[in-house]
Amino acid sequence: MNKIRIAVVGLGRRSTWAVESLVADPRYQVVALVDTIPAHSNVIARQFKLTDVPQFTRIEDCLESVDLHAVAIFTSDGHHAEVVIPALGAGKYVFVEKPLDITHEKLDAIIAADAKAGGRTFVGFNLRYAPVYEKIHELIQSGAIGDVLTIQADEFYDGGRTYFRRWNRLRSVGGGLWITKSSHDFDLLYWMAGAAPKSIFATASLSYYKPRPGAAMYCRDCQFNNPRDCQDRWIAEDQVPSILELVRATEQAIGQKPDLCLFNSDKDTFDNGIATVDFVNGVRATYTVNVVAGFTNRRMRVSGTRGTLDGDLENATLTLTGRDPTRIEQFNLKAEGGHGGADGFVLSNFANFVAGQPAKIVPPKEAAVAVRMGLAATQSSDTGQVVSMAERV
Ligand SMILES: NC(=O)c1ccc[n+]([C@@H]2O[C@H](COP(=O)([O-])OP(=O)(O)OC[C@H]3O[C@@H](n4cnc5c(N)ncnc54)[C@H](O)[C@@H]3O)[C@@H](O)[C@H]2O)c1
Repeated sequence: MNKIRIAVVGLGRRSTWAVESLVADPRYQVVALVDTIPAHSNVIARQFKLTDVPQFTRIEDCLESVDLHAVAIFTSDGHHAEVVIPALGAGKYVFVEKPLDITHEKLDAIIAADAKAGGRTFVGFNLRYAPVYEKIHELIQSGAIGDVLTIQADEFYDGGRTYFRRWNRLRSVGGGLWITKSSHDFDLLYWMAGAAPKSIFATASLSYYKPRPGAAMYCRDCQFNNPRDCQDRWIAEDQVPSILELVRATEQAIGQKPDLCLFNSDKDTFDNGIATVDFVNGVRATYTVNVVAGFTNRRMRVSGTRGTLDGDLENATLTLTGRDPTRIEQFNLKAEGGHGGADGFVLSNFANFVAGQPAKIVPPKEAAVAVRMGLAATQSSDTGQVVSMAERV
């Protein structure tokens, strides 16, 4: 195979990273751009000098008229299956962002389409490629900490509050925070535990981003639109220029304003929560998600019968403390690129996968587990009940 001829579908925020990476990688050639909003394709085409590349609003039209090896999908979470399934049906390799999709039915449909296509889907769970998490997994597998007993994971995400002015705030599009955000972390817990989840108990609430009396629906109209009265206002100058261009294009094309109030927006998800997961092999885990705190980090502590691992994604550090506490090993795992260095490795592994070379991949059946955990966590935090996962994984 010469270059991998790839179509990019869903030209929004995440694709600014993806298209930049694909254009820079000599193994790829971007040969089509697809977005239901043509203005988004135009912006990305201009930003990455792809104005000669054909543009489409429907994946079906693209598949019919462009000679492709692969399709890379960056549509919003609840719009993955509608692109993955036709692409697999046309015999293409598929890169699809996490989460695989947001309902059991659509997960099952993708898994079936992938099996029929002979296993051509690669799910972009990029955190599995972050050096800190790779090392934790490797040390668990090597027996360095003995049998795993407990896992504690947390995520504090400063950017997460902006979900409340984007589609991620709506379960109908993003599945709710337990899926749109926490599918990353549920996937890591599942991977580290090395066994299927047995049951989940979760608790969550919208504690901070609740309706604010006196605030307007859009920052531009709001009496609090100043640094003293609102830390959460939308500030055009603070946006990354490529994203600012996109949101301006969205406003012009479909009238969706970028400065929706984080407090007053309609939303059916939460801003902080804790989930407890029991795995079938006896490993138990807790996971905290918090998008109010105002800083960004993920940490993970895995404790086994011979030692404990403490990982910190932002600082790229990992410490192994033996049960004999004189046994201490420290690892510095700095890597270039977003998500603790993970982003740098994902699309290069996909290129290997398409070329039939050894690649680290998360296939759809495995990727679906994290979404099923998110669905169970949602049911649990809605009802206050422990949810058994026995029938789903
Ligand atoms: N792995 C990560 O770390 C990471 C980080 C950010 C986002 N993501 C994921 O990337 C995906 C995209 O997120 P985003 O923030 O870029 O969203 P976005 O809204 O900025 O972009 C999505 C784009 O998809 C288009 N779209 C929707 N349905 C479509 C369809 N059927 N056909 C063609 N185009 C369609 C929209 O018009 C929009 O331009 C999501 O699944 C998100 O969860 C992953």
